[in-house]
Amino acid sequence: MLSALALPTLLPRPSAISVAEYRQRRDALMGQLPTNSVVVLPGAGLMTRSRDSDFAFRQNSDFYYLTGIKEPDALLVLLPGRAEGESVVFCLDRDPTMEAWTGRRLGAAGVVVEHGIDQAFENTERDERLSELLAGRELLYLPLHSAEAVGIAEDALHVAQAGLRHGRPPLKGWLDISPLIHEMRLFKSDAEIALLRHAAAISAGAHRRAMHVSRPGLSEFQLQAELEHEFVWQGASGPAYSTIVGSGANACVLHYIENSAPLCKDGLVLIDAGAEFELYAGDITRTFPVAGRFSDAQRALYQVVLKAQERAVDAIKPGATLADIHQGVVRDLTAGLIELGLLEGDVQARIDDDSYRRFYLHSTSHWLGLDVHDVGTYRLDEKTPRPLVPGMVLTVEPGLYIPCDDDIPDTYHGIGIRIEDNVVVTHGGHEVLTADVPKQIAEIETLMAKK
Ligand code: GLY
Ligand code: MN
Ligand code: MN
Repeated sequence: MLSALALPTLLPRPSAISVAEYRQRRDALMGQLPTNSVVVLPGAGLMTRSRDSDFAFRQNSDFYYLTGIKEPDALLVLLPGRAEGESVVFCLDRDPTMEAWTGRRLGAAGVVVEHGIDQAFENTERDERLSELLAGRELLYLPLHSAEAVGIAEDALHVAQAGLRHGRPPLKGWLDISPLIHEMRLFKSDAEIALLRHAAAISAGAHRRAMHVSRPGLSEFQLQAELEHEFVWQGASGPAYSTIVGSGANACVLHYIENSAPLCKDGLVLIDAGAEFELYAGDITRTFPVAGRFSDAQRALYQVVLKAQERAVDAIKPGATLADIHQGVVRDLTAGLIELGLLEGDVQARIDDDSYRRFYLHSTSHWLGLDVHDVGTYRLDEKTPRPLVPGMVLTVEPGLYIPCDDDIPDTYHGIGIRIEDNVVVTHGGHEVLTADVPKQIAEIETLMAKK
């Protein structure tokens, strides 16, 4: 007889970001621009996956940050000082036949009512209306890396040139809008932090589930399935980036996403996986023994990474810099490698000659937000790392990856360990969003023993 399946509890959902907050962001961006400028920012389009099938749609993060609109093929135009409305969106046309195939579209009226945009038009009107909107604007701000946006700018230039005959001011040039938006995105609002906290909570539950299920005889893809099942079960759109499940020496391949090998029965497995919820990313790494018990060599190396990771998290507070935090991690990892006999000599000497980089070749942190490697600069200028400020969200993810080389004792061969948490900078220091997944050896072994 079938027994009732115990379903996981659905985590309480945070509120969506309000229409008022999106408006404040557009106003704050326009407040930084000279008068008589215009912003043109295309949203994402659909991308073909194979033949006539598309990838699931994912909105462009900058466009989403300023509008909250999740439909493809939209365009945002910001016109500071325009009496009829400063924010204009072009969107997909209402079309009963297309909507029968692919779902409801907002249409121009929906964009205005549901997203608080001042004025909206459907894409059939775009060419004509856009020329009217751009004519007479002197500075055009757009994402310069976007071929679509640049194409729009070139068309605008032609229109502006025609307008010169009618006495309109000439278009003086175009500039990159991205740095201004990215600087804003670096500082998360309370509503954004609530979404990141939720993405982190879903991701944490998925990692606990993978630890619980892990055992010899399974393959990497089966742990991937456990993680991604939990993401979607909890209402996430799926993974925020390709899930990494690397068992044994696969853990030493930093971007290993094949996830095709059987789990090594005596080995560790490194899982780097995070859910995307309302476009905000979780990004957690945990490393644990497939069979639930660390060997002495695994334990020794794990403790080195764990100590470095905990000290790095503890160092996060306003005014600290990621450069300093990384230097602290490098020092702790190098000292640990010397203690274990994997490097020789003096800590500073091994840092100075870069020999630690044989085992640790990535940086310790990146910003986290709408993109997993979120936008925002890491330096104020070439020489000055930027101090942390409340509202910034980052990862802390030191690791050690030991090659299978002859000069290294066999017992360490192919061990790859990374421990990654997501951290918000607060006024008093920091909040770890991902504390709900065990990382102490005793906690991991206890969780895994409960089969
Ligand atoms: N998952 C990508 C990273 O940790 O940076
Ligand atoms: Mn990361
Ligand atoms: Mn990661």
